[in-house]
Amino acid sequence: MMDGGNTALNATLVNRIDLGRELAIVRVQPDAGEIPEFEPGQFLELALPSPPRPEVELATAQLAAGEQPRRARMTRRAYSLASAKVDRKVAEFYIVLVERGRLTPRIWPLVEGDRLWMDTQPRGHFTLDDVPRGSDVLAIATGTGVAPYVSMLRTYRATGRWRRFVLVHGVRVAADLGYRSELQQMAAQSSDFLYLPVLSREPANSGWTGLRGRAQVALDEPAVRDMLAASRSTGSTHVLLCGNPEMISQTQAKLTAQGFVPHTRQQPGNLHVERYW
Ligand SMILES: Cc1cc2nc3c(=O)[nH]c(=O)nc-3n(C[C@H](O)[C@H](O)[C@H](O)COP(=O)(O)OP(=O)(O)OC[C@H]3O[C@@H](n4cnc5c(N)ncnc54)[C@H](O)[C@@H]3O)c2cc1C
Ligand SMILES: NC(=O)c1ccc[n+]([C@@H]2O[C@H](COP(=O)([O-])OP(=O)(O)OC[C@H]3O[C@@H](n4cnc5c(N)ncnc54)[C@H](OP(=O)(O)O)[C@@H]3O)[C@@H](O)[C@H]2O)c1
Repeated sequence: MMDGGNTALNATLVNRIDLGRELAIVRVQPDAGEIPEFEPGQFLELALPSPPRPEVELATAQLAAGEQPRRARMTRRAYSLASAKVDRKVAEFYIVLVERGRLTPRIWPLVEGDRLWMDTQPRGHFTLDDVPRGSDVLAIATGTGVAPYVSMLRTYRATGRWRRFVLVHGVRVAADLGYRSELQQMAAQSSDFLYLPVLSREPANSGWTGLRGRAQVALDEPAVRDMLAASRSTGSTHVLLCGNPEMISQTQAKLTAQGFVPHTRQQPGNLHVERYW
């Protein structure tokens, strides 16, 4: 969590698509004209001025004549890029409203044309850089944790970057399945991509015929079991986990017991994680 810094607003919200009350796809255009080169899986920070604090207001009121007040402090948070690597004019993000959060309730009222701050430096190591070309990839997300995988799929689908890419997306109800139609369409068009949405709170009578429970139930799906089993002798499967930190700890414990090795910059492995909080 990042608070602070005196940073001028340098970007414009150019488009938002609300998926219900609490989820939005937000597109942001930098004044600089282009976002810097990034690798799918990286994030950019977004920020807005923090709400005024009474003690700062008082100090400002007491400034001597001619003294400049400090510029507003900013509340900054990280958001994974969902855009394809070639899309450099506008950065796309998939954001959930955290009702008691410090930044997202202030992003929510923004409309097209409103200003915000967007970092000029993409960051993070949750990328395919350390996943060899031609590997099997099992990508598991909860909620908005699907965003980095959308970027990877938009960028590398049908390029031979992986042998097979299985995406497991765990959300509460079907309405929370952001990017569902795009992902379904990709899966219908590509034999190397399998999309497995999993719903934890979908009403029993809704007509949903897919997987129910938490994301981990997908580990028992035949295609996933085969991928994991094959990896035991070859190490050929890389697992990516993104989103809810408890999902990550629980899945990581299960997979390390099966021989998967957490990837760090010091020790290469085949289990890569991105905790959102
Ligand atoms: C590398 C990275 C990438 C991220 N990418 C995204 C993204 O693409 N989309 C996105 O929506 N968020 C993403 N996040 C989370 C994001 O940075 C903020 O933490 C989130 O938007 C909440 O900010 P806030 O100021 O509103 O709440 P805060 O005041 O920071 O948080 C209040 C509390 O809410 C909980 N919380 C925080 N984030 C979430 C969440 N996403 N879902 C449920 N509970 C949460 C935590 O318990 C936290 O302590 C990412 C975080 C990291 C570290
Ligand atoms: N999306 C909504 O409809 C909604 C509604 C009200 C408030 N909110 C608020 O929005 C924020 C984010 O909500 P979200 O729905 O995007 O994210 P979330 O709460 O992390 O839930 C997304 C998915 O992750 C699952 N999950 C939770 N813990 C898990 C674990 N240990 N292992 C595997 N899966 C796990 C959830 O299952 P479970 O259903 O079993 O928890 C759900 O299927 C929260 O602050 C929440 O309070 C969201």
